[in-house]
Amino acid sequence: MNVRGLAAALNSNGRYAYKNPEFAVDYLIIGGGVVGLAIARQLVRSFPSKSTFLVERHDRAGEEISSRNSEVIHAGLYYPIDSLKTRLCIRGRHLMYEYCQEHNVPHKKVGKLVVARDDQRAYIEGLYAKAGKMGWPLHSPPSISQTSALPTRLISGEEARELEPDLSRNIAAALWSPETGIVDSHSLMESFETNITDGGGEVAYQTRVVRVDPYKPETRSGFNDNGWVVQTVTGDGDSDAMLARTLINCSGLAAHLILNSLLPKASRIPMYYGRGSYASYRGPGIKNISHLIYPCPDTGRTVHGFQSLGTHLTLDMQGKIKFGPDLDWLQPPSSQNNCEIVDDADPDFWQNHLIPDETRLGQMIDAVKQYLPEVNSEGFQPDYCGVRPKLVGPQGGFRDFEFHTHYPHTFFGSHMDPGSVRRPMISLLGIESPGLTSSLAIAEQVVEDMLCKENGQAKE
Ligand SMILES: Cc1cc2nc3c(=O)[nH]c(=O)nc-3n(C[C@H](O)[C@H](O)[C@H](O)COP(=O)(O)OP(=O)(O)OC[C@H]3O[C@@H](n4cnc5c(N)ncnc54)[C@H](O)[C@@H]3O)c2cc1C
Ligand SMILES: *[C@@H]1O[C@H](CO)[C@@H](O)[C@H](O)[C@H]1NC(C)=O
Ligand SMILES: *[C@@H]1O[C@H](CO)[C@@H](O)[C@H](O)[C@H]1NC(C)=O
Ligand SMILES: *[C@@H]1O[C@H](CO)[C@@H](O)[C@H](O)[C@H]1NC(C)=O
Repeated sequence: MNVRGLAAALNSNGRYAYKNPEFAVDYLIIGGGVVGLAIARQLVRSFPSKSTFLVERHDRAGEEISSRNSEVIHAGLYYPIDSLKTRLCIRGRHLMYEYCQEHNVPHKKVGKLVVARDDQRAYIEGLYAKAGKMGWPLHSPPSISQTSALPTRLISGEEARELEPDLSRNIAAALWSPETGIVDSHSLMESFETNITDGGGEVAYQTRVVRVDPYKPETRSGFNDNGWVVQTVTGDGDSDAMLARTLINCSGLAAHLILNSLLPKASRIPMYYGRGSYASYRGPGIKNISHLIYPCPDTGRTVHGFQSLGTHLTLDMQGKIKFGPDLDWLQPPSSQNNCEIVDDADPDFWQNHLIPDETRLGQMIDAVKQYLPEVNSEGFQPDYCGVRPKLVGPQGGFRDFEFHTHYPHTFFGSHMDPGSVRRPMISLLGIESPGLTSSLAIAEQVVEDMLCKENGQAKE
């Protein structure tokens, strides 16, 4: 592979010329969503003598996926037992409740009901059986597990209506998940940020990464270290370049783009955009609701239960009720999701689709009436939308969270010099639900499992 060609490719559409780095940081995190913040916090804690720097293009944290979700602390019911989603969700939930308690982040373990009509019993029985197999620690034989990692109970329709009197008579059974809760995600992110800056880390807003190049100490003057040259543009148009010894990319919906420009066509990563809309509701049919209520996801011939959990009822910390999210697939303006890189394609096209659309309401109301029949159609108002970064499209099955690691030398087509320090770029891809719940566990995985093993370096 030829370096010049790659450098040109990395230069995306050629708008930003290469710049020599002016300073160096040990850890650079791209993206101030809940995941980037959790990772920065963990780095500051694990490596207090190293410099940790986080850049975010907006003027505050969590303006993208992290502020457009259900704010549910998931129990971990839905994903295959051996997946990262299950493991990091369960671990993340424990860490989340612990963190919220310790740092006074508003949260509430309200519990949730997954409600089933008679013909849907098999679905919740399946979840129940799976949850029962999960001991703690995960995967330990049942005989030695102390408590269940995922406590659930199957209850009858009557018992469910005792908990929530407005539930439909058609609900024949329900799965009760006592560990599910809600969290104020903005307070959580503010708290992470305080924890980062109090610990000596830095968070820079209005700072957009526009270019990433692998750095080779012997070819470019300056720093005698390998790593990544990261060029940023700040709000006032100034551009800076820094050497990031380790780069961690948590840029959510944008996480695949530069990576694709580096990779050969066959290994490029497609991205699909699954929009979810929410509706607020005021009116009859929801007296005194105090738990989250989820339908059984649609698992028909053309849809897959892993894509969306169905239009559910959630509460926020003020007790306000909202319904959502539904699922509709956004079509990028180019064939970008087929990994083509089109120079003038707008990678942030999805931002034009964040105004909730009246046309989604009818279907959402129908879905809600399946389990709460007394709700009144006039009480629904479009509220907000979020976009899921999906690694598979409409016909795809389950896809897990993905962590990809690359090293500078691979892009120079050379072997790493023996004895040189490994400087990874870790890209987090497909961090859709349950990414909020899992954020602290993702941080633990990236920092303590992946980075600490890189150079055999232990936590300080
Ligand atoms: C509809 C919906 C409902 C969900 N519900 C739940 C739920 O109930 N519970 C749960 O656990 N999870 C839920 N999730 C998942 C959860 O919201 C996400 O997994 C999580 O917020 C992802 O966080 P992130 O930090 O990876 O991404 P983001 O929050 O999108 O953060 C990425 C950041 O990177 C920044 N960025 C991008 N490019 C650049 C650049 N070039 N330079 C600088 N900064 C850049 C962006 O501005 C952004 O702030 C839901 C998701 C959706 C879409
Ligand atoms: C960050 O949070 C941890 C606990 O989660 C706490 O022990 C630590 O003191 C906090 N750090 C700072 C600098 O506030
Ligand atoms: C990292 O972040 C940038 C900025 O969001 C993004 O364009 C890119 O695709 C991400 N991935 C890699 C590997 O650089
Ligand atoms: C509302 O719920 C609370 C607690 O679940 C219960 O004590 C109260 O009686 C309920 N009120 C009505 C009107 O159902």
